[in-house]
Amino acid sequence: MTDQAASISKLEPAVSQLRCIGCGAVGEDGAKSVRCAQCGDLLEVIYPGWKASGRADGLDAAGLKGLWKQRRTSYKALDESGVWRFREVLPALHDWNRVITLREGNTPVYELPSCGRAAGVQQLYAKHQGMNPTGSFKDTGMTVAASFARQGGFRWVACASTGNTSASMAAYAARAGMRSLVLIPQGQITWGKLSQALDYGAVTCQLKTDFDGCMKVLDEVVQRMPVYLLNSVNPYRLEGQKTAAVELLERFDWQSPDHVIVPGGNLGNSSALGKAFLEMKELGLISRLPKLSVIQAEGANALFRTMRETGGKELVPVHAETMATAIRIGSPASWKKAVRVLEATGGAVEQVSEVEIALAKAEIGADGIGCEPASAVTLAGLKKLVAQGFVKKNESVVLILTGNLLKDPDFTLKFHRGDLFTGTPHEEEAESLLTHRQRAPMVLDASASAVVKVLEHAERTDPAG
Ligand code: F0G
Repeated sequence: MTDQAASISKLEPAVSQLRCIGCGAVGEDGAKSVRCAQCGDLLEVIYPGWKASGRADGLDAAGLKGLWKQRRTSYKALDESGVWRFREVLPALHDWNRVITLREGNTPVYELPSCGRAAGVQQLYAKHQGMNPTGSFKDTGMTVAASFARQGGFRWVACASTGNTSASMAAYAARAGMRSLVLIPQGQITWGKLSQALDYGAVTCQLKTDFDGCMKVLDEVVQRMPVYLLNSVNPYRLEGQKTAAVELLERFDWQSPDHVIVPGGNLGNSSALGKAFLEMKELGLISRLPKLSVIQAEGANALFRTMRETGGKELVPVHAETMATAIRIGSPASWKKAVRVLEATGGAVEQVSEVEIALAKAEIGADGIGCEPASAVTLAGLKKLVAQGFVKKNESVVLILTGNLLKDPDFTLKFHRGDLFTGTPHEEEAESLLTHRQRAPMVLDASASAVVKVLEHAERTDPAG
């Protein structure tokens, strides 16, 4: 063990506290409720010790960078996790051996050359959070919040979800020997996500309402039953989700990219990533903040409208409607945290249409990466931010891809068969903008000649592929 590692293992836990974002009341870590007991607003994890020293767990910026890098060669479960590798900037558990991890995090950063050309920027990257164990960014938060649930002695955990949270929660609960309750809007989540919750043994209820309705029901359930809420209103979820930003900065050798672009649904993830950037600056690991921008679907644009219509002062809830079902959310719980992040980093908020989302998803796929529709709003939004001059051609941009392509194969198949927009008001627009990206599967006789004909035709009509 190095000196640094030895000093870490001797450190006292409980360096963090929970603070209300509304009234500022401060409580001890490990609270059973995820809302403020005084005013009901959301809580956030704070680290008062840093303020005094500018250091996390007694280490300076260079010490932290070195320690985190060194752990990448370790086979200890905690170090193999791309979340707990950064445990100096996370709330401490009483017993590190009780962490529930699926070796989440450590997700790749890819260059996106042709998407960069489509958007008009020279340096475009994607950090693919869909490469996590259950196929979405939720795992990075779930490892932390589920570990706290187990530490708190809960037998049941629960969430309302558009699908990814439920898949992730069910997996981590199963690993911990806890039971999980999933509330999802009936008919509004993809089969891939639903099947994961079932496979991991969750008690799964499809409610006859939308996501916002599921949230309301769950709020009442947790009042009545000893169930721990694992939605992103849970402050420990956001602590884990922070680490994607830390990993990203490490990958760029602690030189912040100019822009980071993230999809916005319930707005937990944008809040978490923004918190990480601010904390990394406070600790001296970076000298400059990236601008963090949030993109929403036009049909689920509560944050966009909130900023335009009230300057971020009052939430403007909407009735949500979008094929990007992961972000079909009308009343985002973490809107205040997201507004704070937009203001602190100087980011923008944009909205994109259904056709723009479908096109962007196909373009990301054509770069050999792939993602689910909600993730593709980032590229669609980037194009708008470039057109507005907010993102300059020579600036570096990172898109946060939040979910795996295989989460929603139905969307992709319909897109390529050309019937995604059939019977919708977008049919004509889709026809003119998307056809060149469609690659419908072909049914042929089992003959080499038939296949060769197809090859020759493809080469003639579409040589760039
Ligand atoms: N992308 C994907 C793939 C998601 O699943 C979600 C949220 C988001 C983006 C938006 O993130 O809510 O933190 O702003 N999915 C949640 C769920 C709501 O239940 O799986 P956010």
